[in-house]
Amino acid sequence: MTVESVKPEAQIYAESELREPPVAGGGVPLLGHGWKLVRDPLAFMAGLRAHGDVVRLKLGPKTVYAVTTPELTGALALSTDFKIDGPLWESLEGLLGKEGVATANGPRHRRQRRTIQPAFRLDAIPGYGPIMEEEAHALTVRWRPGETIDCTSESFRVAVRIAARCLLRGDYMDERAERLCVALATVFRGMYRRMVIPAGPLYRLPLPPNRKFNRALADLHALVDEIVAERRASGQKPDDLLTALLEAKDENGEPIGEQEIHDQVVAILTPGSETVASTIMWLLQVLTEHPEHADRVAAEVESVTGGRPVAFEDVRALRYTNNVVVEAMRLRPAVWILTRRAVTDTELGGYRIPAGADIIYSPYAIQRDPQSYADNLRFDPDRWLPERAKEVPKYAMNPFSVGNRKCPSDHFSMAQLTLITAAVAAKYRFEQVSGSNDATRVGITLRPHNLLLKPVPR
Ligand code: HEM
Repeated sequence: MTVESVKPEAQIYAESELREPPVAGGGVPLLGHGWKLVRDPLAFMAGLRAHGDVVRLKLGPKTVYAVTTPELTGALALSTDFKIDGPLWESLEGLLGKEGVATANGPRHRRQRRTIQPAFRLDAIPGYGPIMEEEAHALTVRWRPGETIDCTSESFRVAVRIAARCLLRGDYMDERAERLCVALATVFRGMYRRMVIPAGPLYRLPLPPNRKFNRALADLHALVDEIVAERRASGQKPDDLLTALLEAKDENGEPIGEQEIHDQVVAILTPGSETVASTIMWLLQVLTEHPEHADRVAAEVESVTGGRPVAFEDVRALRYTNNVVVEAMRLRPAVWILTRRAVTDTELGGYRIPAGADIIYSPYAIQRDPQSYADNLRFDPDRWLPERAKEVPKYAMNPFSVGNRKCPSDHFSMAQLTLITAAVAAKYRFEQVSGSNDATRVGITLRPHNLLLKPVPR
């Protein structure tokens, strides 16, 4: 799967032609649609298209606009009338910093994207191959037949290690990657809680969970400072993302400030680890739930490698494995909800959107929509064969988004996810053990509640 940025084929509407989006049904007095969004957010988002292409939701006293069609989510992501903002981003900013690429807008964002982009370019990815390979195989060596794999911690561990070792290279990284893992897992759990239950003062009380969260957040920031300080002290300038950040200049050609360097490292490491970790958990769940597809992956790996350990260079040839990854991302997208804010009075699909309006859409709903996918809930990797993939409507499968906020890491992520899937499926079959719960846990990302697996050697 490739994801291209394209210009929207915008239709021009006269002001008099603009319509008010309908209010979605099912709201209740005072709470509006909020209770449904909290109770079962995935079903709620997936049901909205029946109410219109753009619908208004009442969340308490606030009106939020939801976009429900692939075409209009593409138009939203590609239009300059909308910026990154809204409750999701405000809560992330408060905790992770205001000066990183994920939350910046306008000229600062464009400059920051230019700084980080080279590290993620297609031709930079083979440079990370040896680390990705090493980490993928390390997983299969760590796992012992008969022992239980805690997929949450294992997936976080490998995701953080790959991001940290590839992008912030250095011998010092091994021990730090472990600390980063622990800190990030706690921070993400706490952040989601703070977002869905915005009980501000409660989180300031010296209760054990708050203390644990604050310690993890402080450690995350301290770790980033240590990584930056150590790199500076080493006097080394390897060709990596950290060097690019340390050497970056602002709009006036001046070195960027310490806070921005810090926030940039945080803004790259945090989304990078949570999304990849969640996707690895789903891939392990898929290999367990669909042994027939796991067997096909193992057979493909065998046919490509002839039995030697799978290598980074094999990734391009692992077409079926890649399609398993894409199909897992379609049905279980790590990033299930995205928000924007209108910077001006504007429109989407002929519906009036006022300046300042918050807009949400759900890649989960878009990627499961029966209007876009035949047999929409069936796990079918072959729907990504070239002759079938062309039937998929434009923007109906964009797990990395499109436009100027598109994830910079699509090639980086797909390479590691394909490699990890190939390495683990070639060596093991998996069974869920007692106590495992693979139901979907809705947080900042989607992932299984608590996936516990037993690896059985092939
Ligand atoms: C399965 C893996 C991943 C998925 C599904 C994913 C998905 C996304 C999506 C959908 C966005 C756009 C958000 C929006 O439109 O509001 C995004 C942005 C971003 N992602 Fe990823 N991502 C993944 C992995 C990574 C990794 C590994 C990194 C870094 C190491 C990363 C760094 C970022 C950054 C920095 C942004 C902000 C870009 C900007 O605003 O210009 N992501 N990601």
